[in-house]
Amino acid sequence: MIEGRNAATWVFGYGSLIYKVDFPWLRREVASITGWQRRFWQGSHDHRGTPEQPGRVVTLTRVPGWRCKGVAYLVEHSVFDHLDHREKNGYERIATEIRFERDGETADGVFYIATPDNHAFLGDAPIEEIAAHIARSRGPSGSNRDYLLRLAEALRELDDRDEHVQALASLLRQ
Ligand code: SIN
Repeated sequence: MIEGRNAATWVFGYGSLIYKVDFPWLRREVASITGWQRRFWQGSHDHRGTPEQPGRVVTLTRVPGWRCKGVAYLVEHSVFDHLDHREKNGYERIATEIRFERDGETADGVFYIATPDNHAFLGDAPIEEIAAHIARSRGPSGSNRDYLLRLAEALRELDDRDEHVQALASLLRQ
């Protein structure tokens, strides 16, 4: 955290925050956090589904030693009003150490996580079932398919081979 007049914090994005950047940032860095794995285990009632028919979006699950790649943004504290609202359906902010790809330096920051005890959590399911769920879901922010395929493309651009995301994207493209 940077204190003072220009108070700012690093926020690490691993899902839609990588490709849908609807907030101002001061710095943007390709980065990773350790000990977390990306999974389409969170229900979406407000973006890619509805309360009656939730979509499936990503959260992180604890896997010691696992490196999750994404994008970190240095943002002014006022930006969290917008981000907290955007991530309100079951996500909470937690602290993390962020490692920057460019130079291996680290910084303290936060990320949004949807833990298994939140009301919208869906959890694991066979990969074909998750793909079928995504294929039929849609919400105010657009189709769940678009969320998945844009994330898969963004991760490809970051040179990240996320097998869970790529397997789902292959099933959706079939
Ligand atoms: C994130 O992108 O970091 C959180 C999950 C999402 O909004 O897709």
